[in-house]
Amino acid sequence: MQTQKSKALPPGPNRLEMLKILYQVKTSGTGPAFLKLREDYGDIIFLPIFNRYVIFDPKDIKHVLKDNKKNYLKSNTIEFVKTFLGEGLATSDGVLWKKQRRNVGKEFHRASIKHYTPAMIKLAKKYVNKWGEGNSQIDVSQELLDLTFDIACEVFFGIESGVQTEKLRDAFVICADMAVTRGRALIPLPNFMMKNKLAEEQKALETMDNIVFDIIKLHEQGGGSDDNVLTKLLQYTDEETGEKMSQKQLRDELITVLVGGFETTCNALIWTIYLLASNPDSYKKVEAELDKQLDDDNVGMDQLMGLPYLTQCFQESMRLYPPFPVLSRRNLESDSIAGYGIAPDQHIYIMPYVTHRDPEYFENPGAFNPDRFSRDQKINESGIAYLPFGEGQRKCIGENFAMIEGITLLAIILRNFHFELVPGFEPEPKFSITLYSANGMPMKISKR
Ligand code: HEM
Repeated sequence: MQTQKSKALPPGPNRLEMLKILYQVKTSGTGPAFLKLREDYGDIIFLPIFNRYVIFDPKDIKHVLKDNKKNYLKSNTIEFVKTFLGEGLATSDGVLWKKQRRNVGKEFHRASIKHYTPAMIKLAKKYVNKWGEGNSQIDVSQELLDLTFDIACEVFFGIESGVQTEKLRDAFVICADMAVTRGRALIPLPNFMMKNKLAEEQKALETMDNIVFDIIKLHEQGGGSDDNVLTKLLQYTDEETGEKMSQKQLRDELITVLVGGFETTCNALIWTIYLLASNPDSYKKVEAELDKQLDDDNVGMDQLMGLPYLTQCFQESMRLYPPFPVLSRRNLESDSIAGYGIAPDQHIYIMPYVTHRDPEYFENPGAFNPDRFSRDQKINESGIAYLPFGEGQRKCIGENFAMIEGITLLAIILRNFHFELVPGFEPEPKFSITLYSANGMPMKISKR
């Protein structure tokens, strides 16, 4: 730490210029607005009004997420999602987080995930058959949201899609909207201004709790299927304390993996299909690989793991459109980043969307070039330039799950259908909890 010698505040727009930036965010999107900020002010900036630092340089990101990780907790912005995620893995810190990472983490090791691929394959085939019934155009984003939600419910909770999952999804949408509203407000909104919304949120939380606690009870009494995350979590006793997970903790972890697991993966899939439809050469290579490797009636892990080019396309898509677009941290003690003194308890944002387009690390960064991820490339050698799943101790526990789910669904979907962009359609990338297309993703489909 060199705070004495460090410079004061990093450069950045003043309060008046911030209004212009907010306008740019609204008109051209958060990603391009922040790319411009980096171009104008450099690798670290300070945003007045919000009182936030934003760091873009891969070496500084490595400092925060890895080298000096003990000094950084999740930022207070996480409080907005705590209303519905509770104290699950993504929102807790300290001793509780460590214990939960140990226990929940086990269920997401590569070896455990193979139990879940049959459910992924079954549901992907169900959707593909549905699309085959006379459709020539679908909204890929809507369909994939439904598909990934169904997979999450079956794999995490052991429940099939139906009235219960629909209610859970509606409740989730209300709670997530409220979290985003709270997160975006420059000053905390007084409760009287949000009376109706708060009542709606309260009802949604109750619905969510009732459903999840009912499912837990069913599994405790021996009902429900065996191959799901909930059954496994019910069996664990913590290796250090010998304790079982409480019902409340189970509820928080299940909602956390449900929320963490479905929208992110879904958006990664949507952007991959969009980028392939926009890049015919890469698309042809993907289809050739699938035709060689996959037999319609026999899709198993062995075939799915033999799809290196499709995997590279998925990785490259998460570079251009990182599904989890903003990471935030808070420092416990003072620190120095890029020569600037950071007082204790500051909020620091990391934006993979901008860092993933750093020309020093990615040649021609705006282009879709899956070959960047061929085996011999070492992208994160000197700093963390590629971090769709985060890095360091809080790195995504679902990375293996998401990669396997992503490749499985893409393989089955792209083997069965060819996708084309609807002429004149331009997606509007929007930063929220995930990076999604605000106007959906309508696409023409034809059976292959
Ligand atoms: C393409 C899909 C996914 C992406 C891009 C993604 C991205 C991320 C990122 C960037 C973080 C770190 C956040 C931070 O450091 O502040 C994270 C954490 C997390 N993710 Fe994912 N995720 C994906 C899929 C999943 C899946 C499938 C699950 C569940 C099975 C999951 C569960 C979690 C959890 C529980 C955490 C918190 C870990 C901790 O704090 O210890 N994610 N994810």
